[in-house]
Amino acid sequence: MKIINKKINLGVNIDHVATLRNARGELFPSIIDAADIALKSGADSITAHLREDRRHINDSDIKDIVTNFPGKLNLEMAATEEMLNIALNIKPFSCCIVPEKREELTTEGGLDVLSKHNQLKKFIDPLRDAGIRTSFFVDADEVQLEKSADLDVDCLEIHCGSYCRAFDRSLNTCEDEFKKISNIAKLASQLGIEVHAGHGLNYETTKMLSSINEIEELNIGFFIISESLFKGLDIVIRDIKNCMSEGRSLGEEN
Ligand code: PXP
Repeated sequence: MKIINKKINLGVNIDHVATLRNARGELFPSIIDAADIALKSGADSITAHLREDRRHINDSDIKDIVTNFPGKLNLEMAATEEMLNIALNIKPFSCCIVPEKREELTTEGGLDVLSKHNQLKKFIDPLRDAGIRTSFFVDADEVQLEKSADLDVDCLEIHCGSYCRAFDRSLNTCEDEFKKISNIAKLASQLGIEVHAGHGLNYETTKMLSSINEIEELNIGFFIISESLFKGLDIVIRDIKNCMSEGRSLGEEN
């Protein structure tokens, strides 16, 4: 059965506002001002990744976001005891569990839910019990979906890095990567899991991914913050929202 027009939300990842701030060790640009503009311009939530090495967002940023914008923080974090304690203490609206390697520039791939099954179970049960929406960042892979469903996670965020890279470089793998995402989105939705997508999106790939009706949330960071240097954050967010609406209409036509 075709699902028509499920709502699609935008989470704006503000990590790289903090990257810029930390580059000079100053108090600006303010991540709170960025979050405020993002929400006023149509973002539905604010995403921030508290990394083990605190290279961009730090502990006080997380507290400030939760205090200033209750119910709006999607906290990305690795499945470590330190992060679990922080999440249970600050109680964000949702937690997206991501793999983390110290030496990587960004989150390079999805979580291996298969090999980390027991560790993840111990991790997400307390979060769910505390009323926090749980999400796993995974590659578009059926085994990962199956193992995630076993753990009763609320949402799956599909890592779109390979697709976006292929699209941007006009690689012939692009169509296959898109099909993989679309297939996992459909299967996850049939299992009652809310489907999100993120990593590497720009205007074009936002439009394409929004055409997949089962995707209910996109999380976008680096492109939005980069583009806002030229156009301003409010305008970029409105333009991204327009791409999402255009993409959704394409999905309805197909
Ligand atoms: N979603 C998740 C789970 C991520 O880890 C990231 C990158 O931190 C993003 C979305 C945003 O990716 P990008 O900054 O490439 O838009």
